[in-house]
Amino acid sequence: MARDRTAWLKGGEARCLEGPAATRDPKRLVLLGPPGVGKGTQAELLSGHFGACHLSTGDVFRTVAKLDADQRSPAMETALQSMRQGGLLSDDMVLGVVRERGRCFKCGGGFLLDGFPRTVEQARALDALLGAEGVELTGVIAYDLPVDRLVARLSGRRVCPRCNAVFHHDTHPPRTEGICDPCGAALVQREDDRPEAVCKRLRICRSTLEPVIRHYEEKRILIEVSAQGTVREVFGRTLRALSESCSDSIA
Ligand code: AP5
Repeated sequence: MARDRTAWLKGGEARCLEGPAATRDPKRLVLLGPPGVGKGTQAELLSGHFGACHLSTGDVFRTVAKLDADQRSPAMETALQSMRQGGLLSDDMVLGVVRERGRCFKCGGGFLLDGFPRTVEQARALDALLGAEGVELTGVIAYDLPVDRLVARLSGRRVCPRCNAVFHHDTHPPRTEGICDPCGAALVQREDDRPEAVCKRLRICRSTLEPVIRHYEEKRILIEVSAQGTVREVFGRTLRALSESCSDSIA
């Protein structure tokens, strides 16, 4: 069953209905990688496996986009417009949103950060935030995939606007075409999965991702994983890489 992510998605005073089950060895992971590499898909599987909460900044902004227009600030309106066209949001905007949700980093079940940090400024701010909360990252997983596979994954993705379930028309189709399996809503294509926005996202990623990867390489917590193959193959590879990196750090 999907975990309650109310505190992360809504921020402010919002609380998760069911408190997270604290685990003895909570995993605190960052998932890095270009758009469409499968971060969200793997985050859901890892969340089920480790009991850690899937914290996606993209999901926060898509949740805000569903609010009535009068509940969004003019700055947020401009940011959402840029997001629909495939642009990155400003560090100030993103960091404001993440700081407001800082208590999610203390989640007893751990967390899987997906889509954040995306710039070195964000990575440094995350270091400071985690330091202030007294928690450390277990590792940073960097997924990689050739561009033609990224484009195929993005162009075939369909999402549920009601429950956020993610499908793919070739690799993970719903039981009934165009209809969400869990909730029955009509599936849609994300606006930023249209061809012009995809080109822009991939172009931006080429210049922003590498410095973030280097940031974590220097901290010696980077774990590189190929995203080639089926969802289950990538998941198995991720678990193996994590367990090897944990035994390396104990050795
Ligand atoms: P965000 O939502 O974070 O998007 P993204 O990073 O571009 O990543 P995606 O969600 O597109 O892809 P994914 O890697 O999660 O792939 P998925 O698992 O869905 O951000 C969106 C926007 O928000 C940004 O562009 C920006 O505007 C803004 N934003 C968010 N955070 C920000 C930040 N920190 N700073 C600034 N701006 C920010 O998989 C893709 C498809 O492939 C699916 O259909 C899936 O079913 C399929 N699939 C997955 N794995 C496999 C597999 N192994 N084999 C076959 N198919 C697969």
